[in-house]
Amino acid sequence: MRLNPKSFQKKILDWFDKNGRKNLPWQQNKTPYRVWISEIMLQQTQVATVIPYYLKFIDRFPDIETLANASQDEVMHYWTGLGYYTRAKNIWQSAKRIQEYFSGQFPNNFLDIESLPGIGRSTAGAILSIAFKQAHPILDGNVKRVLTRLMGVREWPGEKKTSEKLWQLSEELTPAERVDEYTQAIMDLGATLCVRGKPACHRCPLQKDCIAHKKGIQKNLPAAKPKKKIPVRETHFLMLQDKDKIFLQKRPPSGIWANLWAFPEFPEKFSTAKIKKWIASTVECEIFKITRLENFRHTFSHFHLDIVPVLISIKRKNKREIMPDFHWYDLKNPAQIGLPAPVKKLLFTWIPRIKRGMTSL
Ligand code: ADE
Ligand code: SF4
Repeated sequence: MRLNPKSFQKKILDWFDKNGRKNLPWQQNKTPYRVWISEIMLQQTQVATVIPYYLKFIDRFPDIETLANASQDEVMHYWTGLGYYTRAKNIWQSAKRIQEYFSGQFPNNFLDIESLPGIGRSTAGAILSIAFKQAHPILDGNVKRVLTRLMGVREWPGEKKTSEKLWQLSEELTPAERVDEYTQAIMDLGATLCVRGKPACHRCPLQKDCIAHKKGIQKNLPAAKPKKKIPVRETHFLMLQDKDKIFLQKRPPSGIWANLWAFPEFPEKFSTAKIKKWIASTVECEIFKITRLENFRHTFSHFHLDIVPVLISIKRKNKREIMPDFHWYDLKNPAQIGLPAPVKKLLFTWIPRIKRGMTSL
């Protein structure tokens, strides 16, 4: 099915006439400056949150000159609570640039607007269409959601090819006439009807054209960023246990779990003979039992670590250990030391169970 831009625009604009938001503070006394500030505040922040901040900000900084002459600290103060603070720094720096390079006039063309810090293609498009009535497409989070669902785009929008396709689509659908209202309308549709999770398709003017609605796949779109494939490593945690005491070693000052206390590791293939050799080089003891416990996965940002815990019940013959930086962790009276999450998990979930005689898996 090919979507007809004219009928699409008519549906969106008719819906906007009846249901769109027209009384927002930045929709009154529209100036490029006021539209710009609102669009920056509305990046990643909802309308209801923005309104009080916007009103106070505009009251204190009613124009570019006032903003450019204020201190960065004061501008940051007015942003406190809104989040994403680089936005505040960016508008303050932009105001200074506008004073210096554009004679204090907010620029009225795409290249100059997009050159300002904090303004990308979509925000430039929003400002040009809303403040200058120039036909430029936008592709913010709202519009991405509407378009991927409408057209049934299943690929992740962060992918270059998908993003280009969506921009192309947004451009084809953007009208020459009433572009200011159209831009506001499609954002409002995304923010109020075509919401994340469960959209209100029964009230949507695009329902008959919408592929996601037809197929019932709204909640799967837009597609999430694909999980990147990360390598899997395997290791053995050697849990030397002498009654209530567990042997821990301090990790080196760099790498994963730097400076935390963990079980000694054994990265090689499991073999009882090798483990016995390792024990002999670590502590003089009598070995009662070596039990391989159920393995589990701990995931770091850049790899999965499959951990095989090996519980080694021993009785120390003397207190002369060979390895440096060790600590006999007393389960009855645990020291206040830093433990990696999987070590903590083993110490506090497995060991009590083992002590209750549930070693067989
Ligand atoms: N998000 C970004 N710009 C917006 C606007 N003008 N209205 C509603 N939501 C928005
Ligand atoms: Fe979004 Fe539903 Fe409308 Fe499709 S029909 S555009 S999924 S609200």
